[in-house]
Amino acid sequence: MAGERGQFSSKLGFILAAAGSAVGLGNLVAFPVMASKNGGAAFLIIYLFFIAFICYPVMMAEISMGRHTNRNPVGAFSQLSDGHKGWRLAGMLAILTPFMIAVFYTVITVWLVIYIKEIATGGLEMLSTEAAFGEIVARPSLFAYLVGLLVLIFFILLGGVKGGIERLARILMPTLAVMLVLLTLFVLTLDGAVAGIRYYLVPDFSQMDLSVVNGALSQAFFSLSLGMGILITYGSYFSRENNIAQSTRMVAIADTSIAFFAGLLILPAIFAFDPNTNTDDLSTSSVGLIFSFLPQIFLSMQAAVGYVGASIVAIVFFTLVFFAALTSLVSIIEIPISCWIDELKISRKRAVILQAILLTLFAVPATMSLGISEFFTNFTSYGGVTKSFFDLVSDVFYETILPFVGFTVCIFCAYRWKVSGLKSELIVGDPGYDGSFLEKYINFALGTVIPVVLLLVFISTVSQIYFA
Ligand code: PFF
Repeated sequence: MAGERGQFSSKLGFILAAAGSAVGLGNLVAFPVMASKNGGAAFLIIYLFFIAFICYPVMMAEISMGRHTNRNPVGAFSQLSDGHKGWRLAGMLAILTPFMIAVFYTVITVWLVIYIKEIATGGLEMLSTEAAFGEIVARPSLFAYLVGLLVLIFFILLGGVKGGIERLARILMPTLAVMLVLLTLFVLTLDGAVAGIRYYLVPDFSQMDLSVVNGALSQAFFSLSLGMGILITYGSYFSRENNIAQSTRMVAIADTSIAFFAGLLILPAIFAFDPNTNTDDLSTSSVGLIFSFLPQIFLSMQAAVGYVGASIVAIVFFTLVFFAALTSLVSIIEIPISCWIDELKISRKRAVILQAILLTLFAVPATMSLGISEFFTNFTSYGGVTKSFFDLVSDVFYETILPFVGFTVCIFCAYRWKVSGLKSELIVGDPGYDGSFLEKYINFALGTVIPVVLLLVFISTVSQIYFA
């Protein structure tokens, strides 16, 4: 069955696939808005600090666990702890988390497809009205798009690690980067763009408080696809001839650069076309911003480039976001699939079919959560707010649990596998790791500072969301 697992064809293949996972809505929308609202360059400095000193070691630990065991998260935790029940449970959490994230991320990706189709058929003006989003997410025709998207995704995943995931990333990631750069250059040539750049980049340390620091770390963690079991699984497809520390660094740099560039695109666009933008309206919610605010920004471009021109720019942008979402979605759905292949000892084809059925079972109620079904729309309530099934899944698995999974990875690597075990994997393909500053830092921090910080972020998020 080992042949079923597959492997990336090269270091570049791994870097592109991992960057494909990391680059998503978090980079293109959440990061620019968070940075501009929270002190611009001051936020960026804190963010870079967290990427380097907290996230980078956790990324290396996740990838090492996967490559050492050649397994999915359940298999990796289980094998490295000699079948210890508690640690197996931690592995299960690292499967359940991506499984559930895929549920609501699929729904968001369906909305993106509908927006692209609407703009392409002249609907940019309609999408800019206040009622548009609420109307679109309650359309029963969503199901037709859902089926189409699921068929596309599972078809890609049937192609396996090299022929499916890696091939998709090899095509889409360079395309995405080129589109992003071209669109940014275009926006920067417009009058008023400078105000946006100023708003984005001038450092303002007075905005800094604990919640900003907390937000920066959560965003960094989320943006690198940590705590989702993805890097454990991708590590299991990574060749033992390659250097983990260096490849991981490349992924982190690619992810951060795209987030930074997206800021250079979005903020100048907002200010160039609506100089009176009320910055309080810039919600940090990616969903609200993409689907409600951005169509208005694109529409306001019509004075400069006409309605068709504005629609073309909007289509390019939404296609960019769609590519980013698709590569992230494929990466996350692969995690349960790899688990079914390893643990149930079934072929990739059967595992893909099994996952397609399971995902559909959950994605349908999530799709019905925004107005189609009364039951799923008003599913529960906590923190003083009524929540839909979609909100519940998103709050628990997207907003809350990731730092906790990261915490378990750190504690596991530091105290169960032990830093000596981790080191034995990190020097494979990288003899220079032995005795390096990086090794000394990881040996010290992975069992101390990093898990403490992650636990604090987890506790603070829980108190904010559920006990507000
Ligand atoms: N790293 C992704 C982002 O920044 O948007 C997070 C992500 C979300 C990865 C959803 C995978 C996924 F399915």
